[in-house]
Amino acid sequence: MESVKVGLLGLGTVGGGTANVLQRNADEIARRAGREIQVVCASARDITRSRGCDVDTIRLTTDPMEVVCDPVVEIVVELIGGTTLALELVLKAIEQGKHVVTANKALIALHGNEIFAKANEKGVMVAFEAAVAGGIPIIKAIREGLTGNQINWLAGIINGTGNFILTEMRDKGRAFDDVLKEAQARGYAEADPTFDVEGIDAAHKLAILASIAFGIPLQFEKVFTEGIGNVAREDVVYAEELGYRIKHLGIARKTSQGVELRVHPTLIPEKRLIANVDGVMNAVLVDADAVGPTLYYGAGAGAEPTASAVVADVVDVVRMLTSDPENHVPHLAFQADALTDTTVLPIEAVVTAYYLRLCVDDKPGVLADIARLLADQEISIEALLQKEPAEDKQVVPVIILTQRVVERELNAAIASIEALDSVKGSATKIRLETLK
Ligand code: HSE
Repeated sequence: MESVKVGLLGLGTVGGGTANVLQRNADEIARRAGREIQVVCASARDITRSRGCDVDTIRLTTDPMEVVCDPVVEIVVELIGGTTLALELVLKAIEQGKHVVTANKALIALHGNEIFAKANEKGVMVAFEAAVAGGIPIIKAIREGLTGNQINWLAGIINGTGNFILTEMRDKGRAFDDVLKEAQARGYAEADPTFDVEGIDAAHKLAILASIAFGIPLQFEKVFTEGIGNVAREDVVYAEELGYRIKHLGIARKTSQGVELRVHPTLIPEKRLIANVDGVMNAVLVDADAVGPTLYYGAGAGAEPTASAVVADVVDVVRMLTSDPENHVPHLAFQADALTDTTVLPIEAVVTAYYLRLCVDDKPGVLADIARLLADQEISIEALLQKEPAEDKQVVPVIILTQRVVERELNAAIASIEALDSVKGSATKIRLETLK
């Protein structure tokens, strides 16, 4: 049987990795797919640059549209990133009846609803396993493996760069900027690394996971997003003293009020497996009604881990080339006409526990005042830690862990606490999840 012809858009870190994996494992991949898969052409900004992959048999061009419009190309693999040119290329490929594989989480999170509608009209597949958690087959796991379940919640470390930074800061006391530079050099970080540290990349991925978990349209703009830039070393240390680790989590939870979609630094008990996921590794914990909790772990970024997911998608498409489009696995796990418009809750309506750090005068009655103001909002204290003052200081840090409370009520209590004369500056607030 004739080989399936693939066109690659982008020959950077992931593009090069994909070409390498397809070439190195060509025989095994053909045995699995039932047909040989051949990269016939690829676009790159600079085609004269030497690459980490063999391009002898690949026609190179600087014009990505040439790849999309090449009549022999059946599957277009989009690895250029961004949401402008990438959108144009993907829509053009679909219009021509070509299948698309993409690692572009921003593109899917922002334009997925439109892209999937067009793909359904044309009966083609748009596969995006590599868009979330690099090499971990999390889309397949949720969309197919857990298809018999109602998913209650999921929580994931879904940005490798952020996790690498937090881990190096905690374990080696390294400076933020220095670790970020290393993450960029290793090819983990986004073209704009603020996407990693401010949580935007994780929010893109969370929007995708929530859609396939709950059968809701993609709603990136409703994800509450807080980055890791304000995580202070002292909070990491106090959290550890209390038996917690701080991780940058993406959390999607279905409640009777609606759906919570949030990305923020989170204290989690150190005994949870996910609390021990370090470096560039990603992990997603999914709680579902029939199976209970399941945990998916692996490399969340990097050339070949991401290529592993891209190639798996290409093979999936090859296996379905002759199937009836009506019977393809739906893009967002649920049939397109069965998505629901469940409310996405604002962050003030979210219910979670909290870590608070206050800087207070070292004098009688201060803790009593704080406890009373929390009690006024019916907020129960779960744990309390007060440090002795440093020799030359009259103020001490007080760390409080609360029980679960609606964020609006906690914010009201914090406002009254900050108004006390004995409380200096503003409170540090970090959300806490037990992930039970
Ligand atoms: N910048 C992303 C990360 C790459 O660090 O996780 C994988 O999506």
